[in-house]
Amino acid sequence: MSRPFYLTTAIYYANGAPHIGHAYEVIAADVIARFNRLIGKQVFFLTGTDEHGIKVQKTALAQGTSPKTYVDDIAAVYRQEWAYLNVTHDRFIRTTDPEHYELVTRLWNKLVEKGDIYKAQYTGTYCPIREAFLTDRELKLMQDTGEDMSKLEAVTEENYFFRLSNYKDRVREFIETHETFILPAYRRNEVLNQLEDLADISVSRSKKSVSWGIPVPGDDEQVIYVWIDALSNYLTGLDWGVDDAAAKERFEEYWPPNVQVIGKDIMRFHAIYWPAMLMAADLPLPEHLLVHGFITVADTKISKSLGNVITPKDLVDRFELPNVDPIRYYFLATTPFGQDGSYTDDDFKAKVNADLANNLGNLLNRTLNMTKKYFDGAVPSFSKDYQGLIDISELNPIREHYDNYRFSEAMQSIMGFVDRANKYINEKEPWTLHKEEKLEQLGDVIYAILDSLRQVAILLYPVCPSLTKDLWAQLGFDMDLDQADWRWINGMLTPVGQHTRLGEPVLPRLESEIVGTGGKKK
Ligand code: ME8
Ligand code: MG
Repeated sequence: MSRPFYLTTAIYYANGAPHIGHAYEVIAADVIARFNRLIGKQVFFLTGTDEHGIKVQKTALAQGTSPKTYVDDIAAVYRQEWAYLNVTHDRFIRTTDPEHYELVTRLWNKLVEKGDIYKAQYTGTYCPIREAFLTDRELKLMQDTGEDMSKLEAVTEENYFFRLSNYKDRVREFIETHETFILPAYRRNEVLNQLEDLADISVSRSKKSVSWGIPVPGDDEQVIYVWIDALSNYLTGLDWGVDDAAAKERFEEYWPPNVQVIGKDIMRFHAIYWPAMLMAADLPLPEHLLVHGFITVADTKISKSLGNVITPKDLVDRFELPNVDPIRYYFLATTPFGQDGSYTDDDFKAKVNADLANNLGNLLNRTLNMTKKYFDGAVPSFSKDYQGLIDISELNPIREHYDNYRFSEAMQSIMGFVDRANKYINEKEPWTLHKEEKLEQLGDVIYAILDSLRQVAILLYPVCPSLTKDLWAQLGFDMDLDQADWRWINGMLTPVGQHTRLGEPVLPRLESEIVGTGGKKK
């Protein structure tokens, strides 16, 4: 058995309900989790909410509630939403969990022991939106792009600092010698440039500016900077440093993370601060940071103030979807992973109808109808001339696509099989074979299509777990697709005589008129 697989998402700011951009990230991570289980790996999948900081403190105050009550509500919303999206995480972490609090304290003490924390006067420009002090380069960029600078705060405080300067060279060397640490590789230079700019970083704030956070051990006047707090969640997820034999063993088994999925806006924190923190704690660094792009609505940034926020539930309601798979499929199939993706209602409807309702849905429907008509619903036997439609050699490239996070390419190849099966029906004309009573050939043709549908169900499962389970059941299988193994794709055959169960279309065509904020193409 190969090494277990540790997978994380970013943890989400508890300052509002998740929209399709947040959903995109967690869906991608869920596809990675499901794929890795499918190929036989033992997966630990962590996600959660980031609940401290000035933004939360201010929002709670404005709503006349306490920060804790406020974040309790938001965390519950996130949990519900992840369940709604069929996310199969193993742990949902909250930075207000007592064990996280203890872990951050432990980590802080370790950095102090190392001599990497010192106190100094600090003057800088703080951005409460980013929860970060800005570098000169970032300030200039904001000016150049005309971004709203009215929220920036000039801050002079006595703070604790982390000696990033001690680790800068090692971080650079790590990035340069580990070519697949940052994926896609085209993001590496951006990080290496950012690294040039960096001095030691302030890792605490005065309680007078922010009180909603984890106190600095031994100093009641300071709280730990929210990003140090947040990044540590990946260690809490595996109970680092907890004095318990089972926890220790699990940490040894799973650490370091195989994949940490994050958006491009938080790459600096994960590619620079986080490795430096781990080096200071004498811990191995993650294998891959998988950096995705941003989802926009018709090329416009998703924002509450623009009123263009779309949630997964909005799409389910608007298009009367039977489950969330069309959403999962659309985002992964249309956006090459790493690049930005633009959502529009028209695109969504067109893509889902073309691939899932028409191409796949019709293939299943017409095949099961013919099976019913010609063979009384039972899977026909096949002759010694029988050949399947999908060659074994075509499966590895798809596995490689999944394994290398090329989801859109994987979807394209799978849909290629579906296309092929549809064309095969048109070519072979089973209705003519039936009329001419060429029953042996007819059996071979129907069997080939049924068995390729079986293969497609497994191939598509990581992205569309609900729809493929439905497909699987209609093909007559009783075993649970969640327990499937990649080797089943070509290591088994559909049992002859198995009773198919023609049912409702796995996905009815989306017809709904466009209402709401989804926008048309420009
Ligand atoms: O940054 N499209 O939290 P967050 C794609 N708490 N991804 C998006 C997106 C969009 N429109 N909007 C947000 C934080 N995301 C910190 C992380 S991790 C130790 C702390 C992604 O709620 C974003 O890129 O602002 C990030 O990866 C995640 O959602 C959480 O964003
Ligand atoms: Mg953000």
